Amino acid sequence: MKKAQTTADLHPIILERWSTRAFDSNYEISEEEVVTILEAARWAASANNMQPWRFAVATRGDELFEKFSSTLSGFNVEWAPKASALIAVLHEKTNEKGEVRASAPFDTGLAVGQLVLQAQAIGLHTHQIGGFDKDGLLSALGNPENLQPVVLVAVGKYANDSDLSEAILAREAANRERKALSEIVIAGL
Ligand SMILES: Cc1cc2nc3c(=O)[nH]c(=O)nc-3n(C[C@H](O)[C@H](O)[C@H](O)COP(=O)(O)O)c2cc1C
Repeated sequence: MKKAQTTADLHPIILERWSTRAFDSNYEISEEEVVTILEAARWAASANNMQPWRFAVATRGDELFEKFSSTLSGFNVEWAPKASALIAVLHEKTNEKGEVRASAPFDTGLAVGQLVLQAQAIGLHTHQIGGFDKDGLLSALGNPENLQPVVLVAVGKYANDSDLSEAILAREAANRERKALSEIVIAGL
């Protein structure tokens, strides 16, 4: 566990969430676990309650998981395919009038924020991935209309004794860092 060093008492699921790259490649996620974390995403707030987020679940061993894995770029290729599931997160680009849904990326981020914390609360780990081929992902999903890929979320169990490269193990061991509140609060504190 890599607990955050915080300046205030936070809820344990916030303190203890971190993005591991050491997933247990034997752990099989249950449908109940997947439903639970997607239900948490479903109940996020969104502008006008438009719920522009969309999800596609690939489970290790299935065809979609292979397709999602093949879109990964850089060092994500090494660790992400060991996760139990890769959940593609997309959002609607335009509304029924063809206007851009400006708040959709923000709304979708809120949904993913709830998803990752709910996963933490049920003993799973997550790691969001922006390093993947967006066109490749759309193609894996049959080129759905009007959807913009955002992230893949790797979900699974943390594996203490993972056989990852030295470079990735070093990142696993690194402290979690954040800007100080004084750097990010620009007024009022
Ligand atoms: C939108 C987004 C894209 C990310 N893309 C990647 C990625 O492609 N590869 C990776 O290893 N981590 C990726 N991350 C994970 C971040 O590097 C990580 O959340 C950040 O370093 C903070 O670490 P923590 O989540 O452990 O607190 C991404 C995170 C987000 C939110």
